[in-house]
Amino acid sequence: MCGIVGYVGTEDAVPVLLDGLKRLEYRGYDSAGIAVQTKDGLQWRKCVGRLTELEEALSKHRLQGRPGIGHTRWATHGEPSEINSHPHLDGQGRVAVVHNGIIENYQSLRDQLTAAGHHFLSATDTEVIPHLIEQELANGAADPEAAVRGALKKARGAYALGILFRDQPDTLYAARLGSPLIVGLGDNGYYIASDVPAVVKHIREVIYLNDGEMAVLTSEGVTVKTLDGETVAHTTHPVQMAPEAAERAGFETFMLKEIHEQPRVLRSLLEQHVNDAGQVQLPEVGFSDDYFQLLRRIMIVSCGTAYHAAMYGKFLLEHLTGLAVETDLGSEFRYRSPRIERDTLFVAVSQSGETADTLASLRLAREMKCKVCSICNVQGSTLVRESDSVVFTEAGPEIGVASTKAYTAQLLAFALFSIHVGRARGEITDAYAQELLEALAGVPDAIHYVLERADHIRAIADKHHDGPSALYLGRRFNYPTALEGALKNKEISYQHAEGYAAGEMKHGPIALINEYLPVICICTQTADEVYEKMISNIKEVEARHGRIIALATDGDKQVSTFAEDIIYVPAIREEFSPLVNVVALQLLAYYAAQARGTDIDKPRNLAKSVTVE
Ligand code: AGP
Repeated sequence: MCGIVGYVGTEDAVPVLLDGLKRLEYRGYDSAGIAVQTKDGLQWRKCVGRLTELEEALSKHRLQGRPGIGHTRWATHGEPSEINSHPHLDGQGRVAVVHNGIIENYQSLRDQLTAAGHHFLSATDTEVIPHLIEQELANGAADPEAAVRGALKKARGAYALGILFRDQPDTLYAARLGSPLIVGLGDNGYYIASDVPAVVKHIREVIYLNDGEMAVLTSEGVTVKTLDGETVAHTTHPVQMAPEAAERAGFETFMLKEIHEQPRVLRSLLEQHVNDAGQVQLPEVGFSDDYFQLLRRIMIVSCGTAYHAAMYGKFLLEHLTGLAVETDLGSEFRYRSPRIERDTLFVAVSQSGETADTLASLRLAREMKCKVCSICNVQGSTLVRESDSVVFTEAGPEIGVASTKAYTAQLLAFALFSIHVGRARGEITDAYAQELLEALAGVPDAIHYVLERADHIRAIADKHHDGPSALYLGRRFNYPTALEGALKNKEISYQHAEGYAAGEMKHGPIALINEYLPVICICTQTADEVYEKMISNIKEVEARHGRIIALATDGDKQVSTFAEDIIYVPAIREEFSPLVNVVALQLLAYYAAQARGTDIDKPRNLAKSVTVE
């Protein structure tokens, strides 16, 4: 959840670290800190609060030097405070450590170290690492590298680490186990970071460290090793991301930029995966038609917004492939006794590819001998590397904590995957597949149409943002849309919101309805089988004087007879309407958040990438 960055090379490390941390702040923003080798030795600064606090502190008490490490924190062990901020140091100020992850056996390590005379300052799990290293040195470790290896062999849990030694002024150590960490190679030096965008403007190539590997970086080069000290032959990958992709590009927030990027992202995903003959091409999925014909079941697991995409995927896969499809949350799947066998395909969905519960579920599925396909946005992520096959969502870096473009790209990935599997199993004809793809081709323009009506959506948000709560209703393909609309609203505007299957409303939530409650009703289809049912559900809200905000198809006359406010969207096949409808709900949440004055890109208590259970 935290972000780490490090640099060794010819430049002053401080601006590199601060710029990197700015780009990693979405991973956590409870506190920030850096440590740098200065001409007066190893020095550090840390501050509770946002990165701006640290920048201010550094403007008063400057630091200059290289190499350096930096950290932005999402608190797990110990409240956000200066003392709990990283970097953490050993007892003599010789070793500085930044860490992302959780050292699960930290308490027993701390007890042992305390008994050996170590004195701890913070409530964090991380602080045991520099003390363990210090102890390894005291026990006679041959050199700092051997001390790092010895210490890490004693730590259980997850970590991505950046480590500096006062007595090694040109060396930076990095290590990874279960938390993301990349090593970047640039013209002016070598970098470590929790993700590529943090250092993209400096680097040409990247090494994705594997679990259990460490890297030794000096201004001369990088060596990757195992914890037994054996050198590992590593692969370097060219950096494909343009540095501008990690900028706001004139938008007031990353989230607004990412909402507006959706037509382009989806258009390019379609161009990439639909050939001139109008067939779906998913080369990275790799499984043969025979494999899909013998398949019995699909199990989709993910968390948060990606779970809503999974629900949509279930509806669509069942609709187009004839397979039994089940979904579960990562945090639940791993703690039940799931019955999945070899003839089940396990699908993991994740923007970051680093979500701890999703990864743990994937590993459980692998133990059960299932094939794994991931739907993921980040090349080189752990999820991708541990999967047999992948559908990349190619949405580019998503920096706003609230997921937007990654979600619609996940929905489109499911649409393409469902058509692909449906064809492979002979459940749908070529002609039908083409009809579906033609409908999908209209999605980017339909989203554009919604974006052009942003002012109208803002006016509706301005009118309804004040109340304590809001209810979102949808059915069938748009049931997950209702859940996602409610999640977007609560996570960025902090207005309580609940998403519900409209047909379920009368089994409970109807008790909430009164003349103050905004009820966002998704009823965008005029001809499909649930439209009339949805209208009946809305009538139940109307009868109890709820304030109805309807999402309706252009030209729908019926809705205006009962809705207080209407957001019209263009007509689109029901199966694909969630890709368009959710954009209206993203904007509704966005403007509600703006009216409520929240920090939209960095909502309180959240972090973009949830790498702890
Ligand atoms: C979405 O707006 C959230 N911030 C969150 O629910 C997110 O979707 C979830 O943590 C899963 O992340 P992932 O897609 O990176 O696995």
